Amino acid sequence: MPDLSRRRFLDAGLGITAGGLLLPSLAIATETSGDLGSYGNFVTQTPPQPAPTELTATRLRELAIPAAQQPAANARLTEVNILGPYHRPNVPFRAKITPPLEPGTVMVIKGRVWGQNTRRALANTIIDIWQANAQGRYDNDDQPPAANLFVNRARIMTDENGYYEYETIHPGPYQIGPRAWRPAHIHYWVRHADYRPLVTQLYFRGDMHQREDQFIRPSLIIDLREVRIPTGTYKTGVFDIVLAPR
Ligand SMILES: [Fe+2]
Repeated sequence: MPDLSRRRFLDAGLGITAGGLLLPSLAIATETSGDLGSYGNFVTQTPPQPAPTELTATRLRELAIPAAQQPAANARLTEVNILGPYHRPNVPFRAKITPPLEPGTVMVIKGRVWGQNTRRALANTIIDIWQANAQGRYDNDDQPPAANLFVNRARIMTDENGYYEYETIHPGPYQIGPRAWRPAHIHYWVRHADYRPLVTQLYFRGDMHQREDQFIRPSLIIDLREVRIPTGTYKTGVFDIVLAPR
């Protein structure tokens, strides 16, 4: 957002009209910042979409899904039970990227996905998220992990207000050359049927090694603030995304 910084974007407030939330008219599409492909050959085009995989018997065996968990041909319908008095509508879509008890500083990242042309929030946007652990290591750094094991990565979806929220840990930086580092970052691949796919990353203001990285963009850096709760502290930040129409 070169001509409308993220801070000004947030300070300007979000217009709420009878038709719902509206993006400020000056907003431009979120920048890309990917390291798909090799670091020496920065890939700017959209990566190929993976082919859909049918859940065939062969595929189930490949995924090592135990027979007891495979769908039965004669499965009985799950029974209905009472709603009770405690259900509340409009709860956010909330996700967790890390496995249980992953070491590191706990963070909550939240934001909305917007359409640049309509200035409206985009429901049903899929955000594919992946990141390093606190030591700067990915689950596939050394050798491919098991096909059904995904550590520090998840796909999440925006709700009817274009909102997303997830808990994770602050990723560590990692070195990619004699004088080249990747500062702490989280990868995003954002997809919506009516908009161009966006591959980007978010960064954290004040982190080490940001001057030794060729991929970081100022518009992709967010501020974190500390939140204190009775059981401890965590950090939180906002990363809004603006998609360009197809
Ligand atoms: Fe990375």
